[in-house]
Amino acid sequence: MIFAYICEMDFQKPMPAFVFVSPDGRETPVDVASGSNLMQVALKHSVPGIRASCGGQCACATCHVRLYNLRYDTHNTASAAETDMLLFAKGVKPDSRLSCQVTIDPAFEGARILVMG
Ligand code: FES
Repeated sequence: MIFAYICEMDFQKPMPAFVFVSPDGRETPVDVASGSNLMQVALKHSVPGIRASCGGQCACATCHVRLYNLRYDTHNTASAAETDMLLFAKGVKPDSRLSCQVTIDPAFEGARILVMG
């Protein structure tokens, strides 16, 4: 009964499909439920370049990504703590985020997530 309820909930969530692009150019396509954490999805799919040394505590910047071709800034911006931590990352651009602080939503459909490491 509980299992059936959980399955029903997952099917009702939008499942945006997008691609991680690693520093070496490798592409990892994923198709996951909205509400998932971007870093957790990258680790689950063994995306090269995401080390996530602090385990998602916003304390290492080794999960740095760029949300390329995604209008993410309009509905979810970085916190002050995340912005401070991004000062330690390389290659930071206006679309940079720490993937451990990003929740996937339907706007990810068709996005290319550039892994910066
Ligand atoms: S995993 Fe360390 S800041 Fe994201």
